[in-house]
Amino acid sequence: MITIKNDRELVSMRQACKITAAARALAGEMVRPGVTTKQIDRAVHDFIVAQGAKPSFLNYCGYPASVCISVNDTVVHGIPGDYVLKEGDIVSVDVGAYYMGFHGDCAATYPCGAISTEAQNLIDVTKQSFFEGLRFAARGHRVSDISHAIQTYVESNGYSVVRSLVGHGVGAQLHEEPNVPNYGAPGRGPRLLPGMTLAIEPMVNEGVYDVRVHRDGWTTVTADGKLSAHYENTVLITDGEPEILTVTEGL
Ligand code: MF3
Ligand code: CO
Repeated sequence: MITIKNDRELVSMRQACKITAAARALAGEMVRPGVTTKQIDRAVHDFIVAQGAKPSFLNYCGYPASVCISVNDTVVHGIPGDYVLKEGDIVSVDVGAYYMGFHGDCAATYPCGAISTEAQNLIDVTKQSFFEGLRFAARGHRVSDISHAIQTYVESNGYSVVRSLVGHGVGAQLHEEPNVPNYGAPGRGPRLLPGMTLAIEPMVNEGVYDVRVHRDGWTTVTADGKLSAHYENTVLITDGEPEILTVTEGL
């Protein structure tokens, strides 16, 4: 079942999403050479708790941290640890916050110091692919219209879209129906209706789309060792333009 959030629920959901977006911004500001991924996790954890919210990912299916920090060829679900960020790394941070009964979920990839033009292009295309998909996040379109727009844009730029992980509905649960793949033919899947809230999250690889998962059960890396980037926002379907909920304005 796809949940439709009413106006009262959306007041809470907006707050959860603002806290989540501020947490992402904090993580992004901390990305610089010499910082460990564990330091970022700790700071973001403490920020979320100080807002009166809970880190959505902490202990979710046994996930051991508050943030996923995925460096270079790590696609998603990188576990923060003693790794020291170095100049030239690209660093994906993915964070969720639970507040007043609702989750926000968002991610972005940040450059660590000066990075290659190739790496910057991957980051830019990944972010823009979200906005290409967003154009179809409107009443009357179907879920896979978003998927198709993302895939078309990514592949026209010479990159590939990860298949084995998808976006999702988000709300009282971190993962709700429907799945929102970043690939596929248009015109499939549920019709979009006002009040639906979706986490649209393209994961884009420089090389092949195949990934593998480390023995820790989480760390997901590209099969060919090339770079990967991620960009995600929680989005509300409305009567008109879609509303990105994971924004920091008005927190
Ligand atoms: N944004 C990711 C997702 O929606 C993060 C989940 S990580 C987990 O799937 F640890 F919570 F599983
Ligand atoms: Co998500």
